Amino acid sequence: MKSEGVHAGMRVSDSATEMAQPVLPQHANVHGSVLGGTVMHWIDLAAAVVANRHCRRPVVTAAMDELSFLAPIQVGQLALIHARITLVDKSSMEIRVEVESEDLLTGERRHTSTAYVTFVALDPVTRRPVAVPPLILETEEERREHAAAQERRRRRLEHRKAMQQGSAASVSRSRN
Ligand SMILES: CC(C)(COP(=O)(O)OP(=O)(O)OC[C@H]1O[C@@H](n2cnc3c(N)ncnc32)[C@H](O)[C@@H]1OP(=O)(O)O)[C@@H](O)C(=O)NCCC(=O)NCCS
Repeated sequence: MKSEGVHAGMRVSDSATEMAQPVLPQHANVHGSVLGGTVMHWIDLAAAVVANRHCRRPVVTAAMDELSFLAPIQVGQLALIHARITLVDKSSMEIRVEVESEDLLTGERRHTSTAYVTFVALDPVTRRPVAVPPLILETEEERREHAAAQERRRRRLEHRKAMQQGSAASVSRSRN
């Protein structure tokens, strides 16, 4: 994998991103609350901004872990998307995204989703994975989140391997 020079690293706070998205009628399902796919799109966008800010390279989404919607966000409310980097490896970065609803009339906020998204940095010319700067952990909370992220990464890669073996076996069965 291509790596460019020595980089001292980037802090979590250097790439942390906050998005505030008013929920409009075009974002809604038939119940008047935001569509799950639209929330996933906002999660992906916020996480992409974090990944881009961390590495200043083109990035692609490699994986999004299981996602639950704990409460609806109604038309007229605000969707608040908080995204921060939790782990980097060679070319991959894990970003944690928290979604909250905010009632603009009362100020009440509610946690609605947490997502972990993996992005991979690409070389702009070859479009192959490229090394990203190290992550500088500054606080106890960042170190705790990083330790949990290492365990998530281990499970994610096990799952990827099992999926790859499963699809290889199914291709070979369909050829026989
Ligand atoms: C993600 C992608 C670049 C990985 O390419 P690859 O040839 O499989 O490269 P590698 O196996 O060397 O993996 C590169 C890195 O991605 C990580 N990775 C790849 N797939 C992953 C997955 N499903 N979950 C977590 N990490 C993953 C690897 O662990 C590796 O991380 P590291 O460099 O930090 O160790 C490639 O699969 C791709 O282009 N996918 C499509 C991306 C896309 O189009 N997304 C848009 C939405 S569908």
